[in-house]
Amino acid sequence: MIVLGIETSCDETATAIVTSDRRILADVILSQTDDHRPFGGVVPEIAARAHLQHIERLTTQAMDEAGLRFDQLDAVAATCGPGLIGGVMVGATFGKAVAFAANKPFLAINHLEGHALAARLSDDVAFPYLLLLASGGHCQLLAVEGVGHYKRLGTTIDDAAGEGFDKVAKMAGLPYPGGPAVEAAARTGDPARFALPRPMKGRPDCDFSFSGLKNAVRLVVETLPKPLSGCDVADLCASFQAAVADMVADRTKRAIRAFPAAKTLVAAGGVAANQTLRATLTQVAAENGLAFAAPPGRLCTDNAAMIAWAGVERFRLGLTDGLDFAPRPRWPLAGGN
Ligand code: KG4
Ligand code: ZN
Repeated sequence: MIVLGIETSCDETATAIVTSDRRILADVILSQTDDHRPFGGVVPEIAARAHLQHIERLTTQAMDEAGLRFDQLDAVAATCGPGLIGGVMVGATFGKAVAFAANKPFLAINHLEGHALAARLSDDVAFPYLLLLASGGHCQLLAVEGVGHYKRLGTTIDDAAGEGFDKVAKMAGLPYPGGPAVEAAARTGDPARFALPRPMKGRPDCDFSFSGLKNAVRLVVETLPKPLSGCDVADLCASFQAAVADMVADRTKRAIRAFPAAKTLVAAGGVAANQTLRATLTQVAAENGLAFAAPPGRLCTDNAAMIAWAGVERFRLGLTDGLDFAPRPRWPLAGGN
């Protein structure tokens, strides 16, 4: 089975072609980072226009790289939410048009389900598993029992994890997007130099909070001489990253207890590309008798291979959608946000 995937929910225009035996035949990503950098974050209208400008060319490129004609596809999958609605509409409408023109089934994919199932594409992880989904808009712990069967064990009560990285980067004068910049700066920093709080640590539930940590970073920045020295930035990033890893480890341990059926701990979403976090979670999994899996960085941050793969998973179960499927700016995977 061969599925074309389309992803346009944020600032990456992406197309990919994936097979049911877990081969990625093409994986094309155009990042709009340079378009948004002057604004310090994603501007929805700029993103939507850029998706519109590039989606057709990038789809042709993916088909060429895979050496396929549209009639050789089995289905077309497109992200239909959640995300910036202008961009989502571009990808969803384009995907429907390709499906209609090629007379193939259409699959409306929840972007979060793309992240949630990506480790089954990269590592063939079996159900059930415990999932940490940490991205720019979300930070959740989910019990994944099967395709479409997600139970939320915990979530953030304020900011998403990636939002924390992005805001700390801004305070430290690092470029957008913040996650990779903070990780790079932290490499030479001292994670013990600044004593930052670990909100929610030790609580009996599996929820997260990042806004108090972000404010603590702001207060530290106010005490430092300006402009910040390279050493201060490195120590600040390392201290923040260590606090996040510590908090996430604590919350994940709780979730392991809450979902004893899990055999594997899976990390996904853009923040799961972070090497310090991956090392911490590898250790947490090992200490609790679980395997650990996380897709390679390219499959953690937004991409279309995970959307095509979620399409494979849903198509196998006969879960196709009509061309009247309405894009959704909000679309929780398992209740709530
Ligand atoms: O999953 P993703 O690409 O897009 C969303 O669906 O939100 O996640 C983007 C988020 C951004 O906040 C970015 O700063 C963060 O993931 N991120 C990272 C790293 N790479 C991306 N955070 C920490 N360390 C990284 N290496
Ligand atoms: Zn994402």
